[in-house]
Amino acid sequence: MDKIFYITTPIYYVNASPHIGHAYTTIVADVMARYYRMNGCQTFFLTGTDEHGDKIAEAAAKAGITPKEYTDQISAQFRALWPELSVTNDYFIRTTDENHVKTVTAILQKVYDQGDIYFGSYEGYYCVGCERFYMEKELVDGKCPDHQTAPEFRKESNYFFKMSKYQDWLVQYIQDNPDFIRPERYRNEALAFLREPLEDLCISRPKTRLTWGISLPFDDNYVTYVWFDALINYITGIGYPDTDLFRSFWPVSQHLIAKDILKPHGIYWPTMLKAIGLEPYHHLNVHGYWNVEQSKMSKSIGNVVKPLDLKDKYGLDSFRYFLLRDMVFGLDSSFSEEGFVQRVNSDLANDLGNLVSRVISMSMKFCGGRVPPPSAPEAIDQALMETAARVIHEARVSFEELAFHKTLMSIWELISAGNKYIVEQEPWGLAKDPAKNERLSVILYNLLEALRTIAVLITPFMPGTGEKILRQLGIENTDNQNYASIEKWWGLTSGSVLKPGETLFPRIEFKKETATAATQKTQNDIPPVKPEITYDDFEKVDLRVAMILKAEAVPKSNKLLKLLIDMGTEERTIVAGISKAYKPEELPGKKVVIVANLAPAKLMGIESHGMILAADSADTLTVLSFDREPETGGRVR
Ligand code: ME8
Ligand code: MG
Repeated sequence: MDKIFYITTPIYYVNASPHIGHAYTTIVADVMARYYRMNGCQTFFLTGTDEHGDKIAEAAAKAGITPKEYTDQISAQFRALWPELSVTNDYFIRTTDENHVKTVTAILQKVYDQGDIYFGSYEGYYCVGCERFYMEKELVDGKCPDHQTAPEFRKESNYFFKMSKYQDWLVQYIQDNPDFIRPERYRNEALAFLREPLEDLCISRPKTRLTWGISLPFDDNYVTYVWFDALINYITGIGYPDTDLFRSFWPVSQHLIAKDILKPHGIYWPTMLKAIGLEPYHHLNVHGYWNVEQSKMSKSIGNVVKPLDLKDKYGLDSFRYFLLRDMVFGLDSSFSEEGFVQRVNSDLANDLGNLVSRVISMSMKFCGGRVPPPSAPEAIDQALMETAARVIHEARVSFEELAFHKTLMSIWELISAGNKYIVEQEPWGLAKDPAKNERLSVILYNLLEALRTIAVLITPFMPGTGEKILRQLGIENTDNQNYASIEKWWGLTSGSVLKPGETLFPRIEFKKETATAATQKTQNDIPPVKPEITYDDFEKVDLRVAMILKAEAVPKSNKLLKLLIDMGTEERTIVAGISKAYKPEELPGKKVVIVANLAPAKLMGIESHGMILAADSADTLTVLSFDREPETGGRVR
């Protein structure tokens, strides 16, 4: 094992609040960081937020605040979430940090000066959700496979990074370093991308369309493409270019991501590093998706499960255990709260919880509440010790191969062995015969020692539980408990006072009614397109720009607002069902689109003449507005 370890998570987009997909990646990174720390490695763990680009600018506009205000708010939510999940990141980076911006600018200039960036024009299909261009053949039914939305066609002059120049080098590098990208399926996927000629990467956006980004140092009319900015966080976060931190940690860097962002990490980033003149990262570790009912849990789709809801309801360690035990690293997993509850009851309440409470309570009863003296082990005791040694070894091997579910399964073998040892040895029977006292001591010593081993092994996964078990064993200085300390049996001090605690994992009951349901808004909720109409039919609808002059609540209605609008040629009253989405005081001065020739109708006794257009999404309405100021009364076609 290297004595130094550096792990990163993706820096998450701040276009919405975190869900269990983000929690999973970040908790896996935390489990790894804790594991390497407990193995005596010098460790650095980086996470943060990705704050520039179209997607964020759009989300801020939707929220009606500036991108800066918006990113401050959501970034703070991510930052505050991690300690609640016992995540021990060493640093939290934001791409709006001054230092990051400065370094990205310097890197752009360097790569430009060496001739690896040129000006050209480009057209193609762009998915704002992914913030990247798609090749036509990558689309599924004309849609982005990830966001299930049709990408926009874009054509513009831009700056390009000569990614194609590094294609052959990258193919060779991936072939020479089999575990550069892992598990293997993702290495193969990256090689498959590279089987086709690599296009150069468009790394700018004209400010006429997007201003929320890092200005190009060599052309102020453009901002940097968000991925060219974001990926660099992995080096600015450890002080690139000239710190010892950077020099020591970069050579051992490991990135952790889900498969959605394999292409930027597996293709763009290594070629960027090559152009910057740096060694590639050490490993790219790629996991699958948490799905909800067959579709990816996603902020954009809206079917998210909030990590804090589960933590608050069932406890943090149960949540962390479930995430790591239920997903096979690299494959997809389907989230179900019922499955979660079953898992917690069987593995934690039954197997682990019972072992701890039985061993501690028997020691209280039969050994005066102290660790008994060990003495010569018999064959059956040896067998338990050998199981422990084998489990420690197997847990290590699977962990370092990222097979975390296997690591937990191995640890659970020791838990089962402990429970079986109790059943076979029947300590309560021995306790009845004073002549068998010595044997009883050996058995309980071994069980307590098994608990110590288990506590250390589960600590990276369930830090709170590991600590609680060690305390029950009478260990004061739990910091000294690490992998080295469980390499040898007999680590407990006889005579230490045990400290029984509360039940670690009370059984829980799953109630359908109170399930923390994902806010479902899958494709099925999007209404089908209505039957076709002709152009002439459409021409009958007279759409106009109108300005809202006055807005007031309609008494006794929780949906309606009464609006006075200016049509350029006349003023009218319109009653609109938007009061859940807008406060009356937000509206005056806003220019909106109305159906001007809709026959008048009475709503709550008020005559409404016309209708306001609004986007209707599951939970809210968004009134159509303009990105430039049109003339009041003008036609909308
Ligand atoms: O892509 N299952 O940010 P992002 C598992 N800003 N993991 C999931 C998941 C799911 N359903 N949904 C999200 C970005 N994740 C860029 C990254 S890095 C230089 C820039 C996790 O907010 C997973 O780690 O869309 C995935 O790769 C990441 O969140 C995407 O986060
Ligand atoms: Mg995403």
